[in-house]
Amino acid sequence: MNFLGIDVGTGGTRAVVVSERGQVVAVAGAEHAHFTSRQTGWAEQDPRDWWRATQEAVRVVLARGVAAESIGGVGFSGQMHGAVLLDDRDEVLRPAIIWCDQRTALQCREITDKIGARRLIELTANPALTGFTLPKLLWVREHEPELWARVRTLLLPKDYVRFRLTGERGMDVADASGTLLFDVAHRQWSSEVAEAVEIDGRLLPPVVESPEVVGGISVEAAKATGLKPGTLVVAGAGDQAAGAVGLGIVRPGAVSATIGTSGVVFAATDRPALDAQGRVHTFCHAVPGRWHVMGVTQGAGLSLRWFREQFGAGADDSRDPYERLCSEAAKVPAGAAGLLWAPYLMGERTPYLDPQARAALVGLTASHTRAQVVRAILEGVAFSLRDTLTIFDEMKVPVESIRLGGGGARSSVWRQIQAEIYGRTVELPAAEEGAAYGAALLAGVGGGAWPSVDSACDAVIRIASRVEPEAATVKHMDGRYREYRKLYPAIKQIGFE
Ligand code: XUL
Repeated sequence: MNFLGIDVGTGGTRAVVVSERGQVVAVAGAEHAHFTSRQTGWAEQDPRDWWRATQEAVRVVLARGVAAESIGGVGFSGQMHGAVLLDDRDEVLRPAIIWCDQRTALQCREITDKIGARRLIELTANPALTGFTLPKLLWVREHEPELWARVRTLLLPKDYVRFRLTGERGMDVADASGTLLFDVAHRQWSSEVAEAVEIDGRLLPPVVESPEVVGGISVEAAKATGLKPGTLVVAGAGDQAAGAVGLGIVRPGAVSATIGTSGVVFAATDRPALDAQGRVHTFCHAVPGRWHVMGVTQGAGLSLRWFREQFGAGADDSRDPYERLCSEAAKVPAGAAGLLWAPYLMGERTPYLDPQARAALVGLTASHTRAQVVRAILEGVAFSLRDTLTIFDEMKVPVESIRLGGGGARSSVWRQIQAEIYGRTVELPAAEEGAAYGAALLAGVGGGAWPSVDSACDAVIRIASRVEPEAATVKHMDGRYREYRKLYPAIKQIGFE
């Protein structure tokens, strides 16, 4: 028996087939249209494009020698927080406002004023952040009242794709945690929040735990994808929780640092651990009865992608452009010749909760090189992730080991930089498929291959390599981190247009 994990990301959708022994049998991906940004800080994507990409990715993965009959279950992972709004005929009403969109500062203030900052954290475990779903709903209600009147269902990105595959509306507790309408401690919708902001509870779909079976592949979806009708489908989880399952971050003490478009430091917990200042998110885990805390750097992989798109990847050769950039950076000693990069290209969540934060490259002289700038970008992203480890320390969230994930973990220089900036050994798991892999494991639990998420992880997750930090470099980078911490307050003083 095999299991299929589908990760509906920001850049594209990935389909990964995993065997009962945890081996990756086949992988396929299809890109999404890049998000549109009609105004500075806005980010929208068409949910129908995710569905198009899913059909493509699933068809291709099955064509790679995987019999549809061998798929014992389908699980999901996806970019979180995006608002998919459906009308009474289940048609998409407008492009989804996605996780990195920053337009809702006013709505966040309105929610906080109505409910009270402390009460909001008590009810939902989190403060109102521009990326979360509820402020997006209030923005649409305010700016597009006619369209809002036609909304009948709210779904998150992967839930829309699952709906197209099964005809069933639903959401899992892990992804629902990022809506700000969810009582994270009790794993159910918060009627108090919905009532306070006058959101009709009927818009909210039923919630279930991540490994639960929610339906089967419909006849129509089977035709579109090549899957067998009736193949069981589990709820899955938001990309962070699913990615953590894929890395084996399921029990307290286990921590991951993942660099995708955004960057996340994630810890599994056995209680809903709160930060009174709301600098980290506290969400339900994809493991029933567990929670997690995580800090988010908005512009992690995005920093390198932005550099590549604006300034190119250097001398053209046959290698992947990111590999070329990283090999340039690998030749530069730790510390990037004094350059510092503050990665706030899309505002920032942890630790500043500031959607207006701006990025900066600081310390340039005429003798600095492009390779040093690339190195500074890689280091700046790791400094920003270290900010979350600093907060975990304050919260007494245990950190026993750090596993790396995401595209950033594929770069040996970025792995080394992370070990030296976190000052700890970092581990690289053997299966690199991250969130889609975790989604497949959740499908396996729902499909009966493993009795629990813990046992699935124990059975299949192996560490491929470890990177030890070098003591002298750790000390040097500690000093650079102290300087890095001065960047945000300094940038904050500057008036931008
Ligand atoms: C988590 C978050 C990102 C997005 C994009 O809070 O916003 O993980 O899901 O991948």
